[in-house]
Amino acid sequence: ELQTLGAEVTPELTIHACVPSTNAWLLARAGGLPKGSVCLAEAQTAGRGRLGRRWVSPFGCHLYLSLLWRFEDAAAAAGLSLAVGVAVRQGLLRLGVEGIELKWPNDLLWQGSKLAGILIEAVSEQQGPCSLVIGVGVNGTMPAAAARQIDQPWVDLHTLLGHAPPRNRLAACVIAELLALLHAYEEAGPALWLERWRAHNCVLGRSVSVQQGARVYTATAVDVAPDGALVLVDAAGRQHKVNAGDVKLRLG
Ligand code: BTN
Repeated sequence: ELQTLGAEVTPELTIHACVPSTNAWLLARAGGLPKGSVCLAEAQTAGRGRLGRRWVSPFGCHLYLSLLWRFEDAAAAAGLSLAVGVAVRQGLLRLGVEGIELKWPNDLLWQGSKLAGILIEAVSEQQGPCSLVIGVGVNGTMPAAAARQIDQPWVDLHTLLGHAPPRNRLAACVIAELLALLHAYEEAGPALWLERWRAHNCVLGRSVSVQQGARVYTATAVDVAPDGALVLVDAAGRQHKVNAGDVKLRLG
């Protein structure tokens, strides 16, 4: 499916036994690799999550995948974050995982427990062309030693399906959906994906605890904006718009 890109240069698929982080690996090579290139690893020694958190990445158990994409205009990538969650959800649906909910901005939860996480990092945040690395981690079979290091409820594919699907197949499903999303998104922008995100989210209409730096407040999540920001209304009726890079969100 990488061939359907129509790019002048064929994207590269690199599979490592172990890297610090597949996102970091692609970010460091973003200038020299074609759009659509993918990096996979069996293990990460410094797997990273959103907001500076660590992503526990034991060998041979889970999916650690990063995909490089380029947008002509950095502004066009606003709103992509939610869309990527929708695409990964769709990839897991191909494997028979139903009932995944999206927690803003793009966590994949199953009955409140985290199944997969997404970290999108930009090479350049300035105006003009922008390279993005889309990192996806999906829990396959969680070993007990790794589970002890995770400080939030989690679930894995092994538990949900009764077996862990072959990780090649898991990677293929996720990559196929990401590429389909990125092509469609370039053509049509975020509107359709925002609708899909709304259809499968577990945040809108709920009370949430928002941590923004040292400040913590409770509010009701009411909508998402086209740029992917979450729209909240606090107890005093004031409306807030918060960006994914700035806040931690807890469901009330
Ligand atoms: C989160 O939920 O906090 C995001 C987790 C993203 C983890 C993936 S694993 C592959 C890629 N490489 C990384 O270092 N992080 C992402």
